[in-house]
Amino acid sequence: MAEHMDRREFLKVSGGASAGALLANFRTDSSLFEKAEQAARPVRLGVIGTGNRGRSLLSNLLLMPGLEFPALCDIDLDALAKAQDMVVKAGRPKPEGYSQGPEDFQRLLWRDDVDAVVIAASWDWHTPMALTAMRNGKYAAVEVPAAMSFEECWDLVDTHEATGVPCMMLENWSFRQDNLALLNMVRKGLFGEIVHVQASHAHDCIDHWFFSPEGNMRWGGRYLIGHNRSQYPTHAVGPVWPWMDLGCGDYFDTAVTMANRQLGINDYFRHKFGVDHPYAKASFAQGDVVTTLIKTKKGNTIFVKYDMQLPRPYDNQWELQGTRGIYNEQRNALYLVDKSPAYHEWEPFPPYMEKHDHVWWRKMKTEAEAGGHGGTDYLELALFVEAVRKKTQTPIDVYDSVLMSSIIPLSEKSIAAGATLIECPDFTRGKWKTKKPSFGVEG
Ligand SMILES: NC(=O)c1ccc[n+]([C@@H]2O[C@H](COP(=O)([O-])OP(=O)(O)OC[C@H]3O[C@@H](n4cnc5c(N)ncnc54)[C@H](O)[C@@H]3O)[C@@H](O)[C@H]2O)c1
Repeated sequence: MAEHMDRREFLKVSGGASAGALLANFRTDSSLFEKAEQAARPVRLGVIGTGNRGRSLLSNLLLMPGLEFPALCDIDLDALAKAQDMVVKAGRPKPEGYSQGPEDFQRLLWRDDVDAVVIAASWDWHTPMALTAMRNGKYAAVEVPAAMSFEECWDLVDTHEATGVPCMMLENWSFRQDNLALLNMVRKGLFGEIVHVQASHAHDCIDHWFFSPEGNMRWGGRYLIGHNRSQYPTHAVGPVWPWMDLGCGDYFDTAVTMANRQLGINDYFRHKFGVDHPYAKASFAQGDVVTTLIKTKKGNTIFVKYDMQLPRPYDNQWELQGTRGIYNEQRNALYLVDKSPAYHEWEPFPPYMEKHDHVWWRKMKTEAEAGGHGGTDYLELALFVEAVRKKTQTPIDVYDSVLMSSIIPLSEKSIAAGATLIECPDFTRGKWKTKKPSFGVEG
């Protein structure tokens, strides 16, 4: 493999070293955590990308019984060593490290003693790493977003279909306790027919993720130079696709996106580092706030907002609206026809969350909350590991993963064409019409 082959070249030439075994009759199994079975059959995991997120995921995995960590990979030796240390400090054998350049993850994926891989490298590498995992018969758990372009979305779907190996995007907000209780309520019909959802990823990442606190560009910031799009939509729509049966009864149809001008990045640098800082004047394509409106095949609408470079507290602004009621995340409140005590007045959501708590949370709350991010990271990883162990489908499948990720290219295309309505590709090739909901269905 050429030393400086870029990611795109790599994608073209990295055919499978060995195709994965075909796994028939996938299902999502909600019989979580059968401890005896867990102990009996260890799952052997690799982690690729052991930076901040990779190590945070690893810390969750180290809390789980029945896992082995034969190998880790990162091109940054320091990040790799920190992750190896974590495993050793947890009393496990030191994992073999792979760090010989950006394609060295392949050697990890060629190992016979790895069942599955967790991918937490930078965005450009998510799809190539997941493809190589599937081609080598390893379950892939890939951080958000799973794909950045329509081409990558199709590559993931085609490779999954050719190999039969599952690929799950680690969209943790699909697993939040409030969002899963809402999913139960939606399925019980408490909101009537769902007609509209609004969702945001509103998170000021300018001083730690796009750029370092010292004002240097990090890898995330590079995407702001030449792209204008909803850069990071999956946390916004993480709970939305199951609420709306997207991929299993409905699907994205068309989408239109507008972005405002970019002022926030330049102003941040002017204010913090002075007018002479290069980024105080540099041109960035990325608008500060990007608004996407998606229409579904059924005729429902979804409003998705990107807001990651202006000063603001974190917010997802979920609002779920049906013919018989409405839920609003910021108010932590809802209103249900014939149920809420006062006409047209909000009532608190927490009692409903308790009453309709999802089985995953009823079974796992204590263990999950030890892992951080409110327990969602532990829960999504535990469910992924369980699918690997049982050779079943993952709770989020490849189609769900690319549906969420496809908002990135959909929004970019629409903005570039002057807020034109864009047709959404059907990455299921029609399967959404007959597929039954499987995510978090309670038995
Ligand atoms: N789900 C969440 O809540 C959440 C939170 C934070 C980050 N993330 C996602 O996690 C991913 C990583 O983010 P981060 O904040 O940890 O970034 P980071 O820069 O801290 O870590 C990325 C790591 O990947 C490594 N890497 C890059 N290319 C590689 C290659 N070819 N081979 C091996 N290693 C490689 C880097 O050296 C680095 O250590 C991103 O995709 C991000 O979107 C998700």
